[in-house]
Amino acid sequence: MIIYREENEIIREALKNINLPKNVYIFDTTLRDGEQTPGVSLTVDEKVEIAVKLDELGVDVIEAGFPISSLGEREAIKKICSLNLNAEICGLARARKEDIDAAIDCGVDRIHTFIATSPLHRKYKLKMDKEEIIERAIEAIEYIKEHGIKVEFSAEDATRTELNYLKEVYKKAIEAGADIINVPDTVGVMIPRAMNYLIKYLNDLDVTISVHCHNDFGLAVANSLAAVEAGAKQIHCTINGLGERGGNAALEEVVMSLHCIYGIKTNIKTEKLYEVSKLVAKYTEINVQPNKAIVGENAFAHESGIHAHGVLAHALTYEPIPPELVGQKRKIILGKHTGTHAIKAKLKELGYNNLTEEQFKEIVKRIKSLGDKGKRITDRDVEAIVEDVLGRV
Ligand code: KIV
Ligand code: ZN
Repeated sequence: MIIYREENEIIREALKNINLPKNVYIFDTTLRDGEQTPGVSLTVDEKVEIAVKLDELGVDVIEAGFPISSLGEREAIKKICSLNLNAEICGLARARKEDIDAAIDCGVDRIHTFIATSPLHRKYKLKMDKEEIIERAIEAIEYIKEHGIKVEFSAEDATRTELNYLKEVYKKAIEAGADIINVPDTVGVMIPRAMNYLIKYLNDLDVTISVHCHNDFGLAVANSLAAVEAGAKQIHCTINGLGERGGNAALEEVVMSLHCIYGIKTNIKTEKLYEVSKLVAKYTEINVQPNKAIVGENAFAHESGIHAHGVLAHALTYEPIPPELVGQKRKIILGKHTGTHAIKAKLKELGYNNLTEEQFKEIVKRIKSLGDKGKRITDRDVEAIVEDVLGRV
């Protein structure tokens, strides 16, 4: 596998004075924030099956759900906890006793408790002042710690909160016993430089820093990586980037960027990414767009003659990641852009090895003319063309 930080001069120079961690923890919230995708509702069995697959994939933490939200949710989380998976199981709770009790009742290893801190949320949602919010956070964290459970604390809408106040909230949370502090970019307004600045600003707090980035501007993955450059050690993400509105940082993109670009390790077995993506798409009924990085159907597909020729000569020309590394396969797609190299490779793959030059030219002509009609050309189409040219039909 190529690591761009080592092989690419531009990236190497850009990162040379940055103190990067060796490992980053992957906190998967597909079953909580991912399930908050409009229209998605998983059954207990589906949640359990996805949790098992996430565990096999190697995520460090599975946020299995929001226990207070329904009886079915609690049943699913309890079942997931009873499986004794390798991953830590986490439940979400507002900074309220009844939410926390529901999470404790499920038997989770970690409780992710949160309260909003931004002026907007303080005024219009919580109708609480700054001090009341700190008190509520402290009470919640102390209550969880009394039960001997690990606490991850989030200041919801952290990225629209006054810097000084945000740091004070996190300081108090740590004093109360929070083991991890999570920084949510709740409505995805950060840019990488600002996220990097914020995490550096918080970095002197003596605790593991995590980030939770939403994708409203399409920057969730970039912001998560910028946070790692600044010292964050855990990233919240979801399979296929599922989540509220534009979604959350996509696990597959975060992980492959960490591994292949930065050379930072996670515990993810990347060869399983495609399989898990397909399972999540099936149960959530949210299709993955074809041009989605890593797990999309076109992520390793080549149609243009120039690209197909390139990858057939040397994979790295147009494949920055080997498809097998993420459980995918290279696809050479035939169409009007296809060149002769790709058609030759496809014919060989279909077992047509002894064609004359004239037959081959005729096949190329017919494939291109079919492509010109706006058709996506399947293997079946190619076989029909060849058989016709060979006079067998
Ligand atoms: O986006 C968000 O702020 C959240 C919180 C519950 C952490 O999902
Ligand atoms: Zn969120």
